[in-house]
Amino acid sequence: MRNIGILGAMAQEIDEVKALLTDKTTVKIANREFVVGKIGNVRCVVAFSKWGKVAATITATLLIQEFGITDLFFIGTAGALADGLKVGDIVVSKRLVQHDMDTRPLLSRFEIPFLKRVFVNSDPELTELTGRAISNLLQNGVESMVGEEAAKEFNLAPKLYFGDIASGDQFINSEEKRNEILSLLPDVLCVEMEGAAVAQVCLEFGTPFTVIRTISDTADHNARIDFNKFIVEVANAYSRAIVGEIMRLL
Ligand code: ADE
Repeated sequence: MRNIGILGAMAQEIDEVKALLTDKTTVKIANREFVVGKIGNVRCVVAFSKWGKVAATITATLLIQEFGITDLFFIGTAGALADGLKVGDIVVSKRLVQHDMDTRPLLSRFEIPFLKRVFVNSDPELTELTGRAISNLLQNGVESMVGEEAAKEFNLAPKLYFGDIASGDQFINSEEKRNEILSLLPDVLCVEMEGAAVAQVCLEFGTPFTVIRTISDTADHNARIDFNKFIVEVANAYSRAIVGEIMRLL
C-alpha cells in the first residue's frame, strides 16, 4: 500500500495540509513534527521541511527511513526566473538543479559529486498526476481555491508550467543574482531553497518524487515584500487544494 510523504516549505502551508488529515498522530524527531494519518483513503505523513537544503535533506531522509514513505510530494513557493511567469502561476518539476553547487576545478559547475549529473529528474508519473490535479483545480477557477478577494488583490490568473527548478541556500531578491543564475541555467523556470536537495535524497534512496512550486515573487528587489503577503493570503489555500486533489486522484 502507498504511504505518501508530503513536505511543505512553509509552516503555515503545512498546517493547512495537516488539517486535511484524519486519524492523526504526531511524532517528533530531530526538532521536527511528523503528522501521520490519512487523506481520504490514502495513508500519508506530513511535515514542515524547514528552510534550506540541509534542513530539507534531514526531513526528507527521516520521511523515508523512519516512516517508510513510498512517494514524496514537495510543495511550496518559488521566485520566478523565466520571462512570462507571474505571481500565482504554478510550476511542477521536470528536473531539479542545485544552483549553488560548484566544485570546480574538481568537477564541472553544478555537478553533484559522486552522482555524475547536474540535474535530477522528478518521477514522470507523479509529475503527470500532479499536473492533472492542478489542471482540474484551475478549471474550476482560482477563486474556488483562494476566494474572490485574494484572487482580485493578487490579480491571479494562474497558469501551469512543467520544467526545471533551481535550488540553493539563498533567498534570491536582486536582479544581479537572478540574472546570474539564468545566464548559466537558461532553462530554469524558478528558484527556491529545498527542491533539489530533496530530489537528491529521493534519487539516492530510490523514492519517486515531484516538486510543486507556486510563484510568490519574481526573485528581484520586490521579492521580500511580495513573498510574506502572498504566503498568508494565497499559498496556504493553494497547498491545501492541490494536496487534496492529488490524494483524490491517487
Ligand atoms: N522561495 C520563494 N521565493 C524565493 C526566492 N526569491 N528565492 C529563493 N527561494 C524562494
